[in-house]
Amino acid sequence: MIDIHSHFLPDVDDGAANLTEAVAMVRMAVANGTKRIITTPHFNVNSPGTKAGLDFRRDVYQRFREAVTSEKLLVDVYFGCELYAASNTDFLLEHGIYATLAGSRYLLVEFDFSSRPEYIRDVLASVAARGLIPVLAHPERYIRIQADQRPIYDWVLSGCVIQVNNGSLVGEFGRDSFLCANSLMRHGLVHVVASDAHSARERTPDLSRVYSFIAENYSREMADMLLSINPGLIIDDKHIKKAAPRPY
Ligand SMILES: [Fe+2]
Repeated sequence: MIDIHSHFLPDVDDGAANLTEAVAMVRMAVANGTKRIITTPHFNVNSPGTKAGLDFRRDVYQRFREAVTSEKLLVDVYFGCELYAASNTDFLLEHGIYATLAGSRYLLVEFDFSSRPEYIRDVLASVAARGLIPVLAHPERYIRIQADQRPIYDWVLSGCVIQVNNGSLVGEFGRDSFLCANSLMRHGLVHVVASDAHSARERTPDLSRVYSFIAENYSREMADMLLSINPGLIIDDKHIKKAAPRPY
């Protein structure tokens, strides 16, 4: 499996507390079948994103990468970020202050959980206008999307990639995100499932449970598509596979 959304890097956000925990998280991921990981530290959340902030994350990533190599863990790691959409998003996009997923055209973007769909639509459009492919992080956790999933259909038709969290699909984030995630699945509106891992104890990088969940409740082909094939195509900067979605 391939994980495109994770918080393994220590000292940069609310993910791994230190390098020891980061390595423990990688060990857990590998033991449960993950072969490639993109680290996506939060960016632009509590203070405005800067080039220095991005460089710092990249430096931490290099130390993380060296630790993974010296521990001889059988996994490929990559760098990216989870860009939090705010009033300065256009500035960051214009000045190239962001990190795409593994250097591809795909950019992981997250929003405040109470964001209005019109705002999300406009930010996704401005990402696409820069020649990037927006990957919307965990929309099933956004309150207004939980209430009405119809905007997702329009965003998918306009080229947006939808990433749903492991924990949402299996019910770890409560009933609303569980129902929303599985509704999006039934409508063919999910392209990638990722861990959004934050630690080795809760919100872990173990993707084996959600693989089984998708294989049992949808199909094994779907589990492979969302946890392996499409994430791999993103790393390779190729077009992902999209089934024709069903409108609401
Ligand atoms: Fe995240």
